[in-house]
Amino acid sequence: MPSDKRGRMKTSEQPGAAHMYLITWNARYAIGIEEIDDHHRHLVALLNTIYDDFVNQAPNRNLANVFAELASYTQYHFSAEESLMRAYGYPGYGLHKVRHDQFVERLETMREQFCNGRRQMSFDLLTFLNTWLLSHILDADADMGRFIASNHRMTA
Ligand SMILES: [Fe+2]
Repeated sequence: MPSDKRGRMKTSEQPGAAHMYLITWNARYAIGIEEIDDHHRHLVALLNTIYDDFVNQAPNRNLANVFAELASYTQYHFSAEESLMRAYGYPGYGLHKVRHDQFVERLETMREQFCNGRRQMSFDLLTFLNTWLLSHILDADADMGRFIASNHRMTA
């Protein structure tokens, strides 16, 4: 029986004893822009799903599907952030976009390694991407959030 895809999206609000989590969502990751915080929570859930699938040796087809979902969601999320930064004239836009592009590149490398049967290498990269995502949220995204919030107040 196919598993319910929504049921596989794991967040800290829905802990499951049988599931393995790499990241637990924490309130301090919130940057104060609701739409972006929702995106980040979803990204964390997707990365946790991949991790759980790795650890539990899920069929390759499951992993390939969730990799594809992560790739398209990342693209959607980064575009949303980049549009916001442009709309507010955020001065750190250029560097922030470079960081996004690097993440997309590494994600693609991870997917390729997985597809070529190099599970251990893609697993290591997954751990790296998780760490990267959290530090990006706490640093670059938080800075963007502060800039947008202060600009919002000035123009309100
Ligand atoms: Fe970002």
